[in-house]
Amino acid sequence: MLIDTHAHLYMEHFDDDIDDVIQNAKKSNIKKIFLPNIDSSTISKMLKLVKKDVDFFKPLIGLHPGSVNENFKSELKIIRNELEIRKYYGIGEVGIDLYWDKTFEKEQIVAFDTQIKWAKEFNLPVIIHARNAMDLTIDIIEKNLDKNLKGIFHCFTGNIDQAFRIMKTGFYLGIGGILTYKNSGLKDVIKEIPLEYLVLETDSPYLPPVPFRGKRNESAYIKYIAKQLAETKNISLDEIEKSTSENASKLFNLIPV
Ligand code: NI
Repeated sequence: MLIDTHAHLYMEHFDDDIDDVIQNAKKSNIKKIFLPNIDSSTISKMLKLVKKDVDFFKPLIGLHPGSVNENFKSELKIIRNELEIRKYYGIGEVGIDLYWDKTFEKEQIVAFDTQIKWAKEFNLPVIIHARNAMDLTIDIIEKNLDKNLKGIFHCFTGNIDQAFRIMKTGFYLGIGGILTYKNSGLKDVIKEIPLEYLVLETDSPYLPPVPFRGKRNESAYIKYIAKQLAETKNISLDEIEKSTSENASKLFNLIPV
């Protein structure tokens, strides 16, 4: 079995064929898909998708760093309210993104800090998005670390030092399509990381694995990522499936299937 720990299948990219996408995922032996939120505008679409199959889809709630702007406090209020009124499986995706724009760096840090505190309060894992800000993001996690704080560095693309710092915090590395890209350098890093720190994800509709680069990504393609991980670590595909699924089940507190 496989678990996709990160997919935005509620986005408009899937409006025309979501039922096929779900069927493809199930045929590919995926048992659960975790849906990270973006901001207040995506919540209702995400919850609508969850309703299609509540055992299969597991919603996360959070404010994405790319959506943090001068209105972030009112956005956070909506996120907080959701946390209080509904069952969510984690806080995500949250973090720091300085790739496009550094205008709201301070606000991004405040929003991230606030949501980390909520994760601790509700005893939920944090799903972290870090882009052009890996060291800063790890600093913030280290500063907030206690025995309740846990989560995933989603779409990890850092270097070996950063990977080891993350391992020390007990967080997982989310491995996606980038592992299959020729010049990513990620394979050399992941070779050194024990299986007990790795989970799989697609980040659909983004970052499709080879041979689908340039196309829309979907959860079924996770098998290409799993195959690449098996090859990179020279471990059987069965072992990869078993260990990444166990890690995800443990993190998200799922009853073993
Ligand atoms: Ni994402």
